[in-house]
Amino acid sequence: MRIGIIVYSQTENTYSVAKELQRELTSVGRNATIERITIVGEPGQPEKKVEFSVKPDIHPYDELIFAAPVQGFNLSVVMKKYLKQLGSLEGKKVHLLTTKQISNKWTGGNRAINLMNKICRSKGASMGETGIIFWKEKHRKRTTDEALSRILKAI
Ligand SMILES: Cc1cc2nc3c(=O)[nH]c(=O)nc-3n(C[C@H](O)[C@H](O)[C@H](O)COP(=O)(O)O)c2cc1C
Repeated sequence: MRIGIIVYSQTENTYSVAKELQRELTSVGRNATIERITIVGEPGQPEKKVEFSVKPDIHPYDELIFAAPVQGFNLSVVMKKYLKQLGSLEGKKVHLLTTKQISNKWTGGNRAINLMNKICRSKGASMGETGIIFWKEKHRKRTTDEALSRILKAI
């Protein structure tokens, strides 16, 4: 079974979590690949102006983890646009991860997860686990360990 970790990361935090997840999966003999979504031009563009320079193909994967930051109290518009343009996710199991600075889920974390969930479900995905990671030093390790262990158990 092939696992795809599809990441958008503007300042590398979410990417570093994706790498940790990949390391954990590889250490137990799983086949996990990270693919990064990248855009043309500067970050911070409105959704309608976002153009992809790399738009990962999900077809090779049986199981997917979508990971992206919270921006502006919601899911990064890059991940939102990427997910919206995907075709069917029928037959694929999907897990969701988000990272955020403020240590409170109600400042965009739940909204980001709910939006990813809604889009993936609408495309027929079978939904697995989710994780919200608080990037503040004080909470980072605990929330990362919790999120990754939930997802690893479900894969
Ligand atoms: C433009 C912008 C908006 C952000 N908005 C929020 C926010 O609403 N809530 C929050 O908790 N963190 C917010 N952050 C912090 C990021 O979510 C956090 O640093 C995240 O870990 C960055 O992930 P990345 O390095 O993968 O891009 C914002 C960061 C940026 C650059």
